[in-house]
Formats: sequence, C-alpha cells, structure tokens
Amino acid sequence: GRPVEFFGPHQAGIATPAQDRLHFAAFDLSPTVGRADLVALLTAWTAAASRMAAGQGVGTGAVTGPPGAPPDDTGEALGLPPARLTLTVGFGTSLFTDPDGRDRFGIAASRPPQLADLPAFPGDALDPAASGGDLCVQACADDPQVAVHAIRNLARIARGTASVRYSQLGFGRTSSTSTSQATPRNMMGFKDGTANLKTEDVAAMNTHVWAQPGDGPDWMTGGSYLVSRRIRMLIEPWDSTPLVEQERVIGRHKGSGAPPGLGDEFDPLNLSSKGPDGELLIDANAHVRLAHSSHNSGAVLLRRGYSFTDGTDNLGRLDAGLFFIAYQRDPRRQFVTIQNSLAGKTADALNEYIQHVGSGLFACPPGVQPGQYWGQRLL
Ligand code: HEM
Repeated sequence: GRPVEFFGPHQAGIATPAQDRLHFAAFDLSPTVGRADLVALLTAWTAAASRMAAGQGVGTGAVTGPPGAPPDDTGEALGLPPARLTLTVGFGTSLFTDPDGRDRFGIAASRPPQLADLPAFPGDALDPAASGGDLCVQACADDPQVAVHAIRNLARIARGTASVRYSQLGFGRTSSTSTSQATPRNMMGFKDGTANLKTEDVAAMNTHVWAQPGDGPDWMTGGSYLVSRRIRMLIEPWDSTPLVEQERVIGRHKGSGAPPGLGDEFDPLNLSSKGPDGELLIDANAHVRLAHSSHNSGAVLLRRGYSFTDGTDNLGRLDAGLFFIAYQRDPRRQFVTIQNSLAGKTADALNEYIQHVGSGLFACPPGVQPGQYWGQRLL
C-alpha cells in the first residue's frame, strides 16, 4: 500500500484502516529529565517518525551518514516498503502527576479531566510492570519488521531520556475499522470487529472518538484517548468448551459471525429477539449484550486491538490473548462504562475465559503540521 500521511489534523494510526501488525511500547522518563528534555525528545521523535512513515531512514540514514559514526538509523528496514507504517504517541497520567504527586514538567494544570486514572475493575489481575507509562507509542504496519524497526529507533533516540517500560507485539488485527476490510478472527476463533465503529463515518468519529472544542484543554482538541488492556485468554479451557457454549458466551455464531438465528454477519443484532420457547436468543450474560451501546448509555468505542502469542508460560499454557486498544473521546463515559458492565463474575460470560493483566490510559494529542512536534500545544 501507499505510505500513510504522517501530517494532518489528527494523528495517523487511529482512523487509519487497521494494519496487520502492532508494536506497542510504553516509556518512562528518567528521573532527572526536565521539561526542555521532554520537548527535545518529542521534537526528535516527531522528525524520526515522519521520515519512517514515508519509508525513509532516520536522520542521515543507515548507510549514507558519516562512516566514522554510528548510523542514525539501525538499518533493518532498508529496502522494505513503508508498509503503511503509522506511529501514534500518547501521554500517560504519570506524565502530568507522577506516583509521588509531583508535577515534574509543570503541566499538571493542563491534565484533561478525561485522563482520570481508570478505576480498579472486579477480576483485574494487573501487573504494574506491564501497565501505565509516561508515554506510549503505537506502531502499526503491514510488515512486522517495519513496526519493530520504528519502535527500536524511537527507543534508541530516547536513550538517556526515556526507557521502555514494557512493549507488546501483536498480529492479526482483531478489529476491522473500515468498511473496506473483511472482519478478521481473534484467538478464540470468532470474527472480531463486526459491530465496530467504522472510521469512514466522520460524524460518528466526531461524536465518539475525536476530542472536540470545549471538551477539555484546547491542546487536546482533535486528539483522542487510548485505553490499552493486555487480556490473557485462558486458551486451554476455551478449547475444551462446546461450540454451542462458545457461541452463547459471545452471543454470535462462530462461523458466519451472524447474530443467533440469523445467517449473515451484518444482519441486525436485536438484543430482545426470542426463540420458539420465549427464551432470549442472545444470552443475558453474552459478551455482545453487555458490551452493546444500548446497555451502556450509548457508549461506543473504536476498537483497534491485536492478537498476541508470547510463547508458553511456566505451566506450559499458551500465553496468548488480545492486546485490546480502544480510542474514544472520554474514557470515563466510554471504556469505563462498558468495562463496568463486563467485569465481575456474574457479568460477561467471557470472564471465565479471560483475565486482564495489563492496563494503560493515554491522551493522544492531535496531529502535527510540518515543523511542529507531537504535543507542542501542551508544552
Ligand atoms: C464485540 C470478543 C473484550 C467491547 C465483540 C465480539 C467479539 C468480541 C467476538 C463480536 C463481534 C463484534 O461486533 O466485534 C472479545 C474478546 C475480548 C473482548 C475475545 C477479550 C479477550 C472486550 C472489551 C471491551 C469490548 C474489554 C470493552 C470494554 C466490545 C464491544 C463490542 C464487542 C463494544 C460490540 C458489541 C455490539 O455492539 O454488538 N467482542 N471482546 N470487548 N466487544 Fe469485545
């Protein structure tokens, strides 16, 4: 595909039709870093990101700089196409107020009310080392090497200023975000993204995804809030569950993705439809029922997650699942409302087969024009 435009009113990687691969990284700033260092980092990152998105090497490139110095670019993307690379930056809650309550960069007063720490949800088993972060970068591309190259080079530029807190590789986009894309399947074998917001719907994007004037501080207008959740799937129990039970848990047919009793993936989902004996066709605890906007005061998300498989754990179980990513205008009204419906033993039937083990919340500023840097209006 053609390179994705880096510059514009919104950051790329949100409305961009989801690419096949992900490398997501959360960074922490070094304790001694001040506001000028943060500005210098974001300036260098923006310059590097705009070059890599266009398929160019960082700085003077991998082999075209002065031979007596380490190359500006690590080189493993030489000769590869841009692969629709997008790099999307986000600012974590700890950038504004660190865990000790300090305002390291003098920006606490500019913290948007939407960037309120997520509450603890019933059933959470969060690993602090795989959660949070001062900054995040979501790298998406159709070639894993291109995404990995991008994060590696940004981490290299950050050396001394910020270091990677955790990172996650993902594959097989688990959501279609565009009407031009067929719906992929997640690691449970179900089509994922059928009822997702489609980014061609500009009105819906403005209502549900992009921060609007007056929502919060001006610097975020045109930006969006990212919630990430590393959700481990308990693959072995799931794999020994009968098909009818799997379909009851999700609330859709596994083969076609259609609502219960219907044949086409995009047949309208009617939460109140009943079978011959008056029973609800979509179970009271089905995932799609509890996640549906009508169950959540109209809350809708742009889901843009990826599957992951990180080998096996020390008990020989597949360490696999969904690296859930969702963009929204206000996490308090959107993600938190929906996750409150889903979480808890007696809620989403899916909870028997999943566990949330990592969590992130980031304010992704609006896009930049040439000559500007990411987050310039904040700093
Ligand atoms: C729908 C799987 C976690 C929100 C769906 C569908 C599947 C699915 C198969 C139906 C197809 C579709 O419409 O996309 C999963 C799995 C999860 C997970 C396997 C965990 C591993 C979450 C979480 C949230 C969420 C954490 C948000 C807090 C939604 C929403 C829908 C949906 C909003 C659309 C419901 C509708 O309007 O019909 N999910 N999901 N999901 N999911 Fe999830």
